[in-house]
Amino acid sequence: MIDLSSKTALVTGGTRGIGRGIVEALAQAGAKVVFSGRTEATAQAAVEELAARGITAYGIGADVASFAESAALVEKALAHLGKIDILVNNAGITKDQLFLKMSEEDWGQVINTNLTGIFNVTKAVIKPMLKAKYGRIINIGSVVGSTGNPGQVNYASTKAAVIGFTKSLAKEVAARNITCNAIAPGFIATDMTEELSEAQKQTLLEQIPLKRLGTAADIAGGVLFLASPLADYVNGTVLHINGGMY
Ligand SMILES: NC(=O)c1ccc[n+]([C@@H]2O[C@H](COP(=O)([O-])OP(=O)(O)OC[C@H]3O[C@@H](n4cnc5c(N)ncnc54)[C@H](O)[C@@H]3O)[C@@H](O)[C@H]2O)c1
Repeated sequence: MIDLSSKTALVTGGTRGIGRGIVEALAQAGAKVVFSGRTEATAQAAVEELAARGITAYGIGADVASFAESAALVEKALAHLGKIDILVNNAGITKDQLFLKMSEEDWGQVINTNLTGIFNVTKAVIKPMLKAKYGRIINIGSVVGSTGNPGQVNYASTKAAVIGFTKSLAKEVAARNITCNAIAPGFIATDMTEELSEAQKQTLLEQIPLKRLGTAADIAGGVLFLASPLADYVNGTVLHINGGMY
């Protein structure tokens, strides 16, 4: 059993899907958790849904694509938690389209959320972490950052970039006992994958040796490991959690 009762965590995009699973797992391991959602309303709705299931977490509305809102998010999280030991950069979106039809807007929104969002939030968290001489930064990438995927030139580009971001920051901040790792989920059953057609889902299943989509809990398990003392010497790595497809 992983015990994080002395730890605090900020999870971006914790209102649903994988992020919500991560919030639940961290809270159940004893960590004090703050999470963000795109708006205050979605964040508060998630707080209530979690509370109904006996899980206490504090929710804040903030668009991670905005530098100013990300700074305000971290400021509020610090006011609530006192410190941020664990940062999980999970917020992400897709705007899938074949490259020929991909608009400048679809490109920009995905880059701004999935990649610049990680820059924005980490930028605000890193100074307090350096000062505290402790930090566990966990970035949620994707298997498609390594494999590529038709229709996802924008999304896969951001997820490949997450790997470069993770490995570079890991080397910069390790001397202050801060590790930076990534998790690359395969295909996970969430609202994001709900949008796929039955035929697309069937094609996915054929690529997964374990013959099922992953769950948010499968990814949360990796986060718990990377946030725990079991992973104190793990730095700059990409943990692939995908049922064996890559
Ligand atoms: N579902 C999958 O199969 C899968 C596979 C690989 C990687 N991922 C990655 O896992 C992460 C979570 O995905 P999910 O499937 O749970 O998605 P989801 O759409 O169910 O949830 C996304 C979360 O991010 C938040 N979010 C989106 N844009 C935001 C913004 N601009 N500012 C703040 N918050 C924002 C949403 O509020 C929500 O809480 C993403 O980074 C995604 O790329 C998902």
